[in-house]
Amino acid sequence: MSLSSPCGRSSRVHIGASILAADFACLGPAARAAELGGADSIHIDMMDGHYVPNLTFGFDLLPALRKWTTLPLVAHLELDNPDALIEPLAQAGPDMIVVQEDTCPHLDVTIAHIRSYGIGAGVGVNPDRRLEPVLPYLSQVDLLIIMSVPPGFGGQPFDENVLPKVSLARRHRDEHDLCLHVGLDGGVNEGTIVRAVQAGADYLIMGSAIFQRDGVGTAIARLRERICQSMA
Ligand code: DX5
Ligand code: ZN
Repeated sequence: MSLSSPCGRSSRVHIGASILAADFACLGPAARAAELGGADSIHIDMMDGHYVPNLTFGFDLLPALRKWTTLPLVAHLELDNPDALIEPLAQAGPDMIVVQEDTCPHLDVTIAHIRSYGIGAGVGVNPDRRLEPVLPYLSQVDLLIIMSVPPGFGGQPFDENVLPKVSLARRHRDEHDLCLHVGLDGGVNEGTIVRAVQAGADYLIMGSAIFQRDGVGTAIARLRERICQSMA
């Protein structure tokens, strides 16, 4: 597995294509289009209809997508009691599992469980949650996802109020020399991407901004151009 720019030390910004915004009848081709269009990973939001008011994908999607793309498959668990699902999910072949911190009573145990399968681990923090209690765990994960929308649906507006958490995470990473990507998930698009990158995010998860009418490759090229502008 390569999650590009390991340790977040490269200036390259990782783009995760969230297939929540793709045509559900064509998820394999959508993943392939994202790969050909220049995405760095496929982001798969697994929802349970309880933690969030939406139901999405199950384990079997992972081996199905694997036939269509060589990109890392990142399972984002937006569901209650992820501990019960990590073992069967790990067998389905994700490259990384991301859990929401407020669903894990013992976050360090959950992270260690994910890692015991030899795959990457990440943690997500909702817009209404503080980052400070999560800071001690960041040395144990590969990816921090700051949610910039309430989890559950694509196409929601970007919440600017989370940007200080991105900057705090970047400072913490640099001060402790951590091997960590600082990600943003939700509402990132051509209009908001500059603020996301300037706040310090180096891993952007995008659904609606990528899977759109103009074509995935065109959309990603435009987004990369905006990333370059924001770094100039
Ligand atoms: C929200 C999901 C996001 C979502 C982002 O619950 O975690 O990954 O797909 O979608 P957009 O980019 O459309 O806001
Ligand atoms: Zn997500």
